[in-house]
Amino acid sequence: MSLAALGLETPDKLRAAFASRRTVPIHGGAQVSELLPWDAIDSLKCSDAIDASDYYLGFRGGAVPREAYREPGGKLKPAVIQAFLDKGASLVLNQIHRHVPAIGQVSKYLAGLTGSRVIANAYLTFGEVSIFAPHSDGHDVLALQIFGAKRWIFYDTVGQVRSEILLESSDLLFVPQGEIHEAIPVALPSVHLSFGLAYSQAGS
Ligand SMILES: [Fe+2]
Repeated sequence: MSLAALGLETPDKLRAAFASRRTVPIHGGAQVSELLPWDAIDSLKCSDAIDASDYYLGFRGGAVPREAYREPGGKLKPAVIQAFLDKGASLVLNQIHRHVPAIGQVSKYLAGLTGSRVIANAYLTFGEVSIFAPHSDGHDVLALQIFGAKRWIFYDTVGQVRSEILLESSDLLFVPQGEIHEAIPVALPSVHLSFGLAYSQAGS
């Protein structure tokens, strides 16, 4: 499945955004919830199929210690996790392309389009606190807002805001490697997918 098949964007527009090396918002209009519907989220949020290293539960800006929400053998404690989410916690499900076929297909499509290795992560926020403080990533990112909305803030240096972009459902945002950014939830619950594009060093 391509993003164009979802009614989102043409390959040419995506290539132009990637080539610009600038933060580029691409406003959608398609219904993207089929990529990650709520019933899939409900089963994934307490799924033992996800590696512990790919599962992050955040609360009030920090990580919840694993022993708080996992049995000693590693099994998740659904009631504890739900209680955190009800209080406004956040969840990051890394490598979600391995668990949701439609997201796997989009990742494959982006890999073909860009010649990069693509890893898709899901960011689910049930409260108004950012999951991570301002930071930059070591790879390009294509973010796709599925539900709710997030305000992306870009900084020249930490503390010095350069620009802000509101991302609403079905909007895409290209964030080049190295951009200092923060994503603040503004319409809850907020769910976005982040496709990380890691290019091979060969030839670059
Ligand atoms: Fe990031």
